[in-house]
Parts: sequence; structure tokens; C-alpha cells
Amino acid sequence: MHFGADYYPEYWPRERWAVDARLMQEAGMDIVRIGEFAWRVFEPEEGIYRFDLFDDAIQLLGEHGIRVMLCTPTAAMPAWVEQKYPDVNVVDAAGRRRSWGARKNWCYNNPQMQELSRRITRAMAEHYAHHPNIIAWQTDNEFSYSGCMCDHCAAAFRRWLAAHYDSPEALNAAWGLRFWSMEIHSFGEMIPPRERAHSPSHMLDYRRFQSDQVLAFNREQVQIIKSCDPRARVTHNYMTTYTGIDYRRMAHDLDFVANDMYPRDITALERAAFGHDVIRGYNGGAGFWMNELQCGYINRENQLRTPPPGMIRLWTHQAIAHGADAILYFRWRSCTGGCEQFHSGIVQHDGSPVSRSYREIKGIGQEIERLRALGLTGSAIENEVAILRSFDMARAMEVYYGGRLFDYDAELQRYHRALLHHNIGMDVVHPEDDLSRYRVVLAPLLMLVTPAQVARLRTYVEQGGTLITSYRLGAYDWNAIVPTETLPGDALADLFGVRIHEYDSLMTEAPADPTPVVAWNGQTYATQVWADMLEPTGAEVLARYTNEWYAPYAAITQHQVGKGVAIYVGAALEDRFYEAFLPPLLGAAGVMPALETPPGVQVKVRRVHGEPLWFVLNCTTASQPITLPQPMHDVLLDRPVGRTFVLPPRDVVALRSA
Ligand code: GLA
Ligand code: ZN
Repeated sequence: MHFGADYYPEYWPRERWAVDARLMQEAGMDIVRIGEFAWRVFEPEEGIYRFDLFDDAIQLLGEHGIRVMLCTPTAAMPAWVEQKYPDVNVVDAAGRRRSWGARKNWCYNNPQMQELSRRITRAMAEHYAHHPNIIAWQTDNEFSYSGCMCDHCAAAFRRWLAAHYDSPEALNAAWGLRFWSMEIHSFGEMIPPRERAHSPSHMLDYRRFQSDQVLAFNREQVQIIKSCDPRARVTHNYMTTYTGIDYRRMAHDLDFVANDMYPRDITALERAAFGHDVIRGYNGGAGFWMNELQCGYINRENQLRTPPPGMIRLWTHQAIAHGADAILYFRWRSCTGGCEQFHSGIVQHDGSPVSRSYREIKGIGQEIERLRALGLTGSAIENEVAILRSFDMARAMEVYYGGRLFDYDAELQRYHRALLHHNIGMDVVHPEDDLSRYRVVLAPLLMLVTPAQVARLRTYVEQGGTLITSYRLGAYDWNAIVPTETLPGDALADLFGVRIHEYDSLMTEAPADPTPVVAWNGQTYATQVWADMLEPTGAEVLARYTNEWYAPYAAITQHQVGKGVAIYVGAALEDRFYEAFLPPLLGAAGVMPALETPPGVQVKVRRVHGEPLWFVLNCTTASQPITLPQPMHDVLLDRPVGRTFVLPPRDVVALRSA
């Protein structure tokens, strides 16, 4: 387990470094991340490299037992780049070129920028190869899809299309371009989707193309670092649930996945749990790093709320409980200048260890030491339930013209939240990952689905799996074209035993009227977002719509296929529906809660040397009574815990058998 902070030695006088290193050491820290915004320090003029500042900082940190994660510094470009290469900046759909300053304003497809990235990465990788105090690398910082539409992007897009489609005619057919005379004769006629009403297929592929370009940019940096030092371990810091980049594919180019998270407040701890599960999925299991975790107030969304006592500790252990093997807080010290001058560090502007964050984190440092001693690092998380989530689905929702209010993650979290409330652990995986180890697979909003994915889902159910999907199933092919088979398409109709001829979109700015109501198990539930009118062709009806023209269509169905079942939930419903509906299904599939706890208490299990370690997190502002099967031992504070005990607000314990 690593424990540390994001550190900017270049912002502070050298005389201060030793004080910082000593304070870090005293807080139990063993790592800092450095360098991601220091391009101007490393390369003050093109081709002139300076390493003395970071050499000295890395040396001094090492003398205090602090290891280093070094970043390539391409996240913020020096002024000389734009002076020399004025077309590096991102161009928006209206043709406006973004200005120099700030960060992340250059284009991934700009050949000059690609070359500058190669050069600075190679210079750093050669200089720091085999350095005994550098234990990991991070490429750039929080890569993001820029939406750039400059001429370099247009040219690269045409090459990308030529590589993905056999001919312009094949492209015309795949995207349905006869509509509004948008067919092309040559790839040279195709442009980035600058207009608002381009075809969804065009917009979807442009997003895929841009993601591919970011992946290629990252891959080059990784390859250069490894060519200089084959033992280098390289990561990139993801933005949790961000879907502008195909993070799953990016992970194939990295040694491990790292994440950045700013949970903001106590109400966001359910969303944070989802985010951690998403990241663990990209990492192929536990062992991801938190390269940036919030450690105080943040200057976003016009707020500077200071986390109350205990909050940082709760965020930290929540991340570890979900599979983090390293925690680095953003940032070591609040900086005095720049647009993040009111973004809290562990120590404040005055650099004093009297800050509450520093004192709390020092306490957490001791707990991390105990988790380390127990052997937590690298320990696994085993779940029996998976939720499917994919980049292509997320992007398809964005280009979908049938209501721009679709929110993919909000739908996934309807299911995730209900299971979280019952302390049932989940993995978030891709439709093409191995599903055979899960008793239950949740596949909400599986709108864009390929024939190969459908075949895999069918095999999963035939072999005994429980598969649950929701509305808009099969409504798009790979290119966001609407299929001509009756919904949800023949293969999916066979699997779920239903046909759909009618649906209602409830995504309106004003309240929708009428709105379908669903009756299930003696209760009625309001619907939102979307409602499919299900006509069973073999499935058993579990629930029907009760009002208006929606009655008596089926709303929820269940179809036995082979040894398993395929369940269709035709609408988005109120939270209390999922809370009631899912646990019995999971129980029937043999999935049991880790522990029964009061609402707002999250329980997560990591297996250390095969034995469960239960993290019990009180995510509420009230004390909560906890009842265990037997007395246990809290590893965090190294103390016995009785069979029943009271967990104070925002407190957490990590329990193993006494
Ligand atoms: C991101 C960035 C950091 C910093 C924080 C502020 O995560 O990676 O450099 O800007 O946001 O919240
Ligand atoms: Zn561009």
C-alpha cells in the first residue's frame, strides 16, 4: 500500500522542501506524484532540457523515505510552443481557435504537438531510467476528449474512416447517409461533425475516432518510457466515470489504472462507490491507485465547503474497501497563485502542520500501516454480481436524437444503489468481459449491442445465469442505425421472450402527462425516462402497466432459457422499486448480503489471505447500531469490537475475525 500526496516542488523555495519531506514522513507517507504541469521547468526553450530542480527534489524526498511517481508534463504547454507552432490549439465547431494559457487546450492530432510530446517524454525517460527512487510513471494528466475540429483532426478523421470502412459507399450505407443528401463519393469529402444536426452515426464515429487518437497519444508516451526502462510501471489518472475516452482499451496500454476522485460531500458516497467499482473494472480487479483524492475544500461549482471531521478518513477507507492499493491526496499544500489558489491542500497556504487535514491524515497514516502489515496490498475483491457498462453505449446515448435527457450512469446507478443499500458487492464490467463467474448480470440500457454480445449473453443465461435488462434494448446497431427487425430484434426477442411495438418517452422538460404506472407485488410505482410496452412471446409477466393506454401491456417479464432466466424491466422506476424487486431475485440466484446494516451504512469486503476483511462505513451524520455475527477485531484502530456496537457518524472500521 502506498500513501502520499501530489506535490509541486517547483512552486516552493528549495529551503522548504526538507520541511515538506519531513512532515510527509511524519504522517506515514511514502510516495509523492510530481511533474505533470512542469513542462516549462523541464524544457524552458525548445530542445533545452533542465532536470536539476526535479533531480534535487527527488533526491531529497528519497532521503526521507518518500518514493516518486513521475509524470510526463504535457498537460500544460509553455508559451514557446504556441509561439512557434500557432496551430497547436484546439479549434471548436465554429472554427474558433482556443488561446494559450490554462491547460489541455492543444490538439492530439497536431503533428507538432505529437513530436514535442515524443521529445520531452524521451528526454525525461532517458534521464530518469532506472532511477532507484522512481517507482511509477503517470502519462500526462487526466486526458480528455477535446472535441477539436481543426484541419489536422479532419485529415486524421478521413484516414481513420478509410481504415475502418472498405469504401465511401460502405460508409454511406453504414451511416444511412442517403438522408438529407449526405452521401459522399470519396473519404476526402467527409468532415468533422461541425453542424448540430449531423447524423448520429457520424457523431458517434467522430467520438470513437477522437478516443482512438487520445489512446495513441498515450500509447506513444508509454512505449517511449518503457523503451528506456523496461521495468518502468506506467499508469494514467482516470476521471472515474468519464466516458469521453474508451478507458477500458486504454487500460490495455497501462500497467495499472489510477483514478482521481473528489466526492465533495457525504451525500455523494453512493456515487463514489459506483465510481470505485467502475475503476476496479477497468483495472481488471482490485489494486488500482487513487492518484488524486480530495483532502479538503475544492474550488469548483462556486463552492468552498470544508469537509467536516472524519470525512477524509471515510473517503480514504471507502476507496481502499473498493480495491485501492495506493492513496495520494490532491494536493500536498494549497498554492498561493493560479486558478486553484482556493483548492485545499493537506497543509494550507501557511504550510503549517496544525491544519486539520494534516492531523487527520497523520492518523490515517497509522491505519494504513496496520492494513499494510495485515497484507492488504494486492488482496482481492470477489463479487457475484456484475453490471455491464461500455464506452460505446455511453457515447451512443449522447448522439441519440430520441431524447437528449437519457443519462446512462443514472440508469446503471438505479440498480447499483439498490444493491449497495443491501450490502451486495458488484463489479462493473464490459459486455465482452468474462461473465461466467457471476450469478447475476445486470445489463440496464443495453441499447447499442452487437450480435456477438447478444450471443454471449444467451450462453450466459443458458448456462444458469440470471440476466436483467431494462428499456430500449437492442434499439441501435454498432453504427447507431435503428434495426428493421421488430424490437428488440430477433435474437434478443428469443432470449427475453418479448416483442415491443409501442413505447413512450417520458423525458420532457415539463412533467410528462400521462405517465405510466406499474403494479408489482401489491404496490404501484411511478415511471420515468422511458417505458417499453412489452408483449410476451414466451416470457412470464411479472408486472403490468395499470393506467391509460399503457394497460394492460406487460412492464416486467421473466423468461426461462436453458438453466437461467432473462428478465426485462421495461421502464425506469422509483428507487423503492429496485430495493424491493432485486433482493429476492438475487436471493434466488444464491447471492446474499455481506451483512445487514441500517440505511446509509456501507459494507465492503476484501479478502486478505483468503479471509474476509469487512469495511463498515457509516455514511450518515448519525450514530448507527451495528450487529455482527460474532465479536471481531478492528484492524484500523487495533482494538476488539463486540458483537453489537455503535458506529459514530462518518466513522469506519475494518473488521476481521477476532
Ligand atoms: C483534477 C486535476 C488536478 C486538479 C484537480 C482540482 O483532478 O487532475 O490537476 O486540477 O482536478 O480538483
Ligand atoms: Zn484538432
